[in-house]
Amino acid sequence: MASLERVRQGLESSGQGHVLQFWPELSEEERDAFLQELGQLDLQGLRDHCEGAAKAAASPPDSLDRHIEPVPSEFIGSVRKSDRKSLAEWENEGLLHISKNRVGVLLLAGGQGTRLGVQYPKGMYSVALPSGKTLYQIQAERIRKVQEIADRKHGSKCTIPWYIMTSEFTLAPTEKFFEEKHYFGLEPTNIIMFEQRMIPAVTFDGKVILQGKGKVAMAPDGNGGLYKALMDNKVLEDMKRRGVEYLHVYCVDNILVKMADPVFIGFCVSKGADCGAKVVEKAYPAEPVGVVCRVRGVSQVVEYSEIRPETAELRGPGGEMVYSAGNICNHFFTRTFLQDVAEKFEGQLKQHVALKKVPYVDACGNQVRPTKPNGIKMEKFVFDVFPFSRNFVVFEVVREDEFSPLKNADGAATDSPTTARNSLLAQHCRWATSAGATLLDEHGNTASVSAGDTNPAQCEITPLVSYFGEGLEQLLKGRTLKTPFYLDEKKAKELQAE
Ligand code: UTP
Repeated sequence: MASLERVRQGLESSGQGHVLQFWPELSEEERDAFLQELGQLDLQGLRDHCEGAAKAAASPPDSLDRHIEPVPSEFIGSVRKSDRKSLAEWENEGLLHISKNRVGVLLLAGGQGTRLGVQYPKGMYSVALPSGKTLYQIQAERIRKVQEIADRKHGSKCTIPWYIMTSEFTLAPTEKFFEEKHYFGLEPTNIIMFEQRMIPAVTFDGKVILQGKGKVAMAPDGNGGLYKALMDNKVLEDMKRRGVEYLHVYCVDNILVKMADPVFIGFCVSKGADCGAKVVEKAYPAEPVGVVCRVRGVSQVVEYSEIRPETAELRGPGGEMVYSAGNICNHFFTRTFLQDVAEKFEGQLKQHVALKKVPYVDACGNQVRPTKPNGIKMEKFVFDVFPFSRNFVVFEVVREDEFSPLKNADGAATDSPTTARNSLLAQHCRWATSAGATLLDEHGNTASVSAGDTNPAQCEITPLVSYFGEGLEQLLKGRTLKTPFYLDEKKAKELQAE
């Protein structure tokens, strides 16, 4: 354990001597725990971190309007605009790589999910589907299914390793949950959990915030903490050892995520890309999502706060938005690109400022729950490596089919448990009807099925039966199905036998 004197010196020389102000009041046990925590802080970098945070929070974001342009069309693929043949070719290419164990998935699950407001990792959340499945279970089953599809096509027995980045908040409960659920039928050795770093939250005048008398307010270093975490935990070595060349990175909260999406992977590989971003068309110009574009000729994501409304409103000759490529935190990376980033570029990644309400103890030792933001959390973002790519591509997918994030608690107009559940049910209704089924609502009337349906019939199909709508015709064609209808593997067998 670090010595008190060394820690005290380190703190004082970074202008953070106040961190030990309650030391005399702490018990022996509390002192040990605190010293251990402080020993893990990067004391050398602490001054830069604190001063940098205060400075960044005080300066308004640059307006990038004059320097931006859309990504040129030759680097963009699109599900909507591509013919069936191209889509099938990309899918085949993706499945081939999957069958040869060259593809891994990486889940970013270190966030605190404060907006959703539950005390456990977001992946353990159930949005109340008929099956009651959690986000983690849905994702696990999609991995199993896409492995099976690749195996069937190529006569292989393949594995898609599942890398899961967690944080101090999410690691232990996630591990426990997976164990209790028997890893959802996946091989435990192919699920690799690792932890990202934590960094101190800082006041507007650059002082580390004390959450308790013997506890610094720490927060995960953003989903761009991935690159340090990959190195810290030797994850890239693990990928190399397994022969994983391509990685599909995604966020925990998108209920429609296509795990190890063969079409996206096939598209990126066939273009020789080292880095790729899936995007959806922005719903409207002021939609608060980042836009994938170029700034001074370099590909990157521009936050909605970094461009003026007039720029966001710009339209092309056909009336389409010029800056329409909404980032959905769904990325393709080659392992060698990640290796380069981790070794050469990580230190150059931008730091983003998030102003948060951080509970703290005041100078008199009282616990305070602030009602307005009082602290700065510095975060790195996973997409900030785009500028280092040598061949960056964009792949536009259909929002209703692939993107519905769970961010907020119920009651919010968007991105809530209800909207996530409805997106999945509406998609499964569309799959069932395009396979030739007629769905009946609870009154026996034909249920309406349309994209963006806000009150879809209760039709759910397990990923173990269909990954993305395939294979349903033989089970459902010509059938009239009363809802709620849940197509699990058992039901599928019964229908097959009829
Ligand atoms: P969000 O930005 O939505 O943050 O993360 P969040 O922590 O989940 O939720 P709020 O903002 O507190 O309500 C997008 C994705 O990045 C991951 C999250 O787990 C989610 O998958 N993430 C976020 C990390 O892995 N690490 C972080 O430090 C932050």
